[in-house]
This record gives sequence, C-alpha cells and structure tokens, in this order.
Amino acid sequence: MFIFSLKSRYLKALWRLLRQNRLEFILILLFIGLSSGVIMLVPYWAKVLINEIMLKKDFALLFKHLLWGLVLFFAILFFEFERELRKFRLSNAVEAAVRVRLFRKIIQVPLNILPEQRTGDLISRISNDVRIFGDGIQLGLFTLISNLLIALGLMIMMVWYSLPLSIITIVLISPMAWAIQYFVSRIRLKARITQEKMGLVNNMVEESLRGIKEIKCYGREDDVGERFSELSNRALEAHNQQDKLRAVNPAIVSCQTFITIGILILICSWMLKRGLLPVENLTAFVTCLLLIFTPITRISGSFGFMGKTFAVMDRFDEIYNLPAEPLKSKKFPKLPEIRGHIRFKNVCFHYHENGFHLADMNFQIEQGETLAIVGPSGAGKTTLINLALRFLDPISGTILMDGLDIHHYRIDSLREQIGFVPQEPVLFDATLGENLYFVKENATENEIRAAARAAHVDHFAQKLPMGYDTPIGQYGNRLSVGQRQRIAIARAFLLNPRLLILDEPASALDPESEHLINDSLQSLWQGRTTIIVAHRMSTIKNADRILVLDNGRIIQNDTHQNLLKEKGLFQRLYTYASS
Ligand SMILES: Nc1ncnc2c1ncn2[C@@H]1O[C@H](COP(=O)(O)OP(=O)(O)OP(=O)(O)O)[C@@H](O)[C@H]1O
Ligand SMILES: [Mg+2]
Repeated sequence: MFIFSLKSRYLKALWRLLRQNRLEFILILLFIGLSSGVIMLVPYWAKVLINEIMLKKDFALLFKHLLWGLVLFFAILFFEFERELRKFRLSNAVEAAVRVRLFRKIIQVPLNILPEQRTGDLISRISNDVRIFGDGIQLGLFTLISNLLIALGLMIMMVWYSLPLSIITIVLISPMAWAIQYFVSRIRLKARITQEKMGLVNNMVEESLRGIKEIKCYGREDDVGERFSELSNRALEAHNQQDKLRAVNPAIVSCQTFITIGILILICSWMLKRGLLPVENLTAFVTCLLLIFTPITRISGSFGFMGKTFAVMDRFDEIYNLPAEPLKSKKFPKLPEIRGHIRFKNVCFHYHENGFHLADMNFQIEQGETLAIVGPSGAGKTTLINLALRFLDPISGTILMDGLDIHHYRIDSLREQIGFVPQEPVLFDATLGENLYFVKENATENEIRAAARAAHVDHFAQKLPMGYDTPIGQYGNRLSVGQRQRIAIARAFLLNPRLLILDEPASALDPESEHLINDSLQSLWQGRTTIIVAHRMSTIKNADRILVLDNGRIIQNDTHQNLLKEKGLFQRLYTYASS
C-alpha cells in the first residue's frame, strides 16, 4: 500500500539501472523472499510451541521443537547474510555506474555550457550525491522491498487467522500511508536544498584550494574561514530541517502502533468474550501483529532514504539533460585528411554572459602558412581559436577547412588532426612520460624522446629524480609554468599534425628558453599550417602573416614588414614591445 506513494518516474529510472545487474537483483529478491519466508514460519512455530507443547504440557516434543527453532534461526542467519552481501554489492555497482555515467556526460558538455556549472558542485554530485544514491538503494529501496514482503506475508497470515481483525488492522494503519507519502515529498524537497547547499560548500573548497596562494598572500585566511563556516552552517541548517522530517516518521509509526494495538486489544477481548475468536488463533494473530510493526517501522524509515534518493536523482537528471557535443555522431561524415587551407567566412560569435562580440571574421590561411594573431588582452584571440577547434560554434558564418565546412563533419575527426597548445596548459597527475603518451598512446619511446628533445623537455627531464617516470603532481604543479609549456609543445611535436594551433605557447619562458623554443617552434611549424597567438615579437616576426585583433574585430591583416610600415595598432604594439 505504501508503494503508491513512490513516483513511477523515479522507479522507472531506478529499474533502468538495476536491470543491468538483473541476475544479482533477482538473487537478492530470492534471498529477501527466503529470509522473509522463514520469518513467516516463526509465528507458526510459536503457535505450536504454546498451543501444542506449553498448553497441552506435552514436553516430550519440546526438544524436537527447539531443534526446529535452531534450524529456523540458522536459516534466517544464512539468508540474511546472503541478502545483505548481495545488496551491498549491487548498490555499489549501481553507484559506480552512475558515477561513471555522470563523469562521461560532464566531459562531453560543450565548453560554452560547462563553465556555467560550478566545479565544486559537479564534484559534489559525483561524490556526495552518488553516495547518497547508493545508500538510497541499500537502505531505502531494498529495505522497502524486503519489509514490504514481510509485511505482506504477515498480513496474509493475519487474514488467515482472523479476517475481521485483519480488516480492522488495515483500516487502522492506513492513515499512516498518507502521512508517510506527505513526508517523502517534503523530505525530497528538503534533501534537494541540502544537496544544493553542499554543492556550494564543495565549490568553495575547490575554489579556495585553487586560490590558496592569493588567500595566504593577502592574509584572508580568517575571512575565507568565516565565509566557509557561514556556508557550512547554511548546509547544516538545511540538513537539520530535512532530518527533522525524518525524525517525525518513527514517531508517527509509534503513535499508530499504540493506537492500533490498543484498539485491537479492546476488540479482541470483546470477540473472545463472545466466542468469535478461537484462543489458538488469537496467539498467532497477536504474534503476527507484534511482528508486523517492525517491518512497518522499517518501511517508514526507508521512505526517508527514498526521499533523499529522489532528490539526488533530480540532480543527476540536470546533468544528464545538459547538451552533449555531437563528438562522434554518426549523423556526420568524418573530415578527410586536412591539407591545411583554412578560411573564416563572415564568422560572428558572441558570449551571452557579457555581450562580447567577435564580428565578421574574414580571413584565410594558405596551406603551410603561419598566421600570428596579435592584439590587446581581451581582444578575442583565444575565442577565435576556440572557434577553429569547435570548442565554440559561430552564431553565423562558416569555417572552411580545405574548402569543407567543419560544421558538417564529426568534431573528433577535426580535433584529432590538430596539434593544440593551450594558453594555460594543464597536465595530469601522472608521470612526465605518461603526460606525453596522453596525446599518442601508441607512441614509440624514440618518438617520445625526439618530441621531448625538440621542445627542450629533455633538458630538464633528465635532472628530475626519476627522469620521465617522475610524477609531476596535480595539474603538473611540481613543474614550473615554463616547463609545463614545454611539455605542451612536446605534445604537439609528438602528434605531428597537419594543423597547429598555439595560444601563447611561450608566454612563461625566460629569454634563453624562449630563444630555444622559438627555434623548435619554427621547426615545428615547417610545412604545416599554423595559427599562433603571441605577444612576443620574437615569435611574431617569424610568421608569414599577422592578424591584428582589437575588441573582437580584425583591424589589420598583413605581413610583418608591411605592418611595421603601416601606422596602426601593430606598430604601437611593436613599439611597446621593443621599448
Ligand atoms: N567563457 C567565457 N564566457 C564569457 N565571456 C568570455 C569567456 N571567455 C572569454 N570571454 C570574454 O571574451 C572576451 C575575449 O576573450 P579572449 O579570451 O578571447 O581574449 P584574448 O584576446 O585571448 O585575451 P588574452 O590575451 O588576455 O588571452 C573577453 O572580454 C572576455 O571577457
Ligand atoms: Mg587568450
């Protein structure tokens, strides 16, 4: 009866997950059935003990009967152990599957949408929420199913022993179902608020650890601690409100139990007096009645977990419903091998958040040419590059690769042909070597070494305690920024692509390394089409053409020599850089 208060939308979603482990689920149901079934035998066993042995004083049967009791006891132990073990395994498996699904989805979300999601909150969903979900299956769903079965079995036995008393019992306990239904939906709402607040807490942890230098440098430890404590208190408050509702649940069940038992005692006495109820059936009925309140209490407790589970499922849905990049969509053909001619034709783009416009981008790069993009900070250089990599899609206009509109081809087939060095390269928490293999898993050791030499990685790698096997820390933070940039450049060498896109690849290098890197960059872009965003004139002057961007517009597009002669932004930038 309580099952009606569960929403079918959530049950369907739960079933979709559970059916992947159908066999285990069926085995759990089997062991739930067996353990519950054996428990059903207890009232019968008690009835025989009292009626056949105690009342009739037939103590010869006592030993045999106690032995049967022992068998029942061990059977219950075994079935319960199997049930619990399998429950844990299944909920852990489902938890892991949800975690992986969420993670896969998050990394597929397009780059113009992902930053809107707070990192800490996303981590909270993948860790905290998934944990709550697992608990919901273990302590909510399975507790509900097993206790429902026990309650149902006991109910059938009660009907068997006394139909009128059973009907009265059902009538007496039915208001509880409505109360619980109300509490589940309230708990779901409160749990949602709690999880949102926990997301904010995690977000602040993430943000503070990233900005730990700023916090320490400006001596903001106390303020930040205070702000965190405030956020944490809000989460605590929400949690307490949610648990207040959960705490009310057992109270309702206890009230109902007292009322029901009280009324039934009166009715039973009246029926006994009138001879409407045989004494032996009364014993069994009362045993069932006393037994049934335990599963009912557990069912009501499981609803608290179900409310929380439904709340986190809503939060998972928010992630699942985000759009994904059509990375490998079969709808689109693969982009043929790039030769390297690029054309931006009337490309326009704008960020909704701040209204920044990249207006009417018209330019082309010949095969094998190097195009440097220069311009003041915030001019739109990185945005332009993001369009070429399809991290962002234009609002209008087309980007053509060898005459083919890249938007009509699979994104992965475009990206796998581009060597990209981002403005702020992020390395992974692995060894230096593994960070190079990341771009080309099947690279030979010679290829790795050659790329490392070309990008001057070899130079510092040899000084590391374990050479290429040295772990470089989270985001590569055990290396200097310049060293990280060199690894990013080595990755581009390793990939050996036809098209190179470099976003300020040498911004953090000292003059000597810059000189060395410029040499390697030049050898890197030999024979390949290259787009390079650069501030350093030493890098820019080697480019075939220079595109000058200002405030989202192309204002100059010419060779280095011609631009130097022209009065304009480039000349000014050049003068500043040289002075
Ligand atoms: N994800 C984003 N969401 C909203 N606005 C953005 C986003 N990224 C950049 N912008 C805005 O777009 C403009 C151009 O940014 P972009 O990163 O392209 O500049 P840039 O020329 O690469 O600058 P820099 O030389 O400092 O790297 C900026 O005004 C910035 O505020
Ligand atoms: Mg930039």
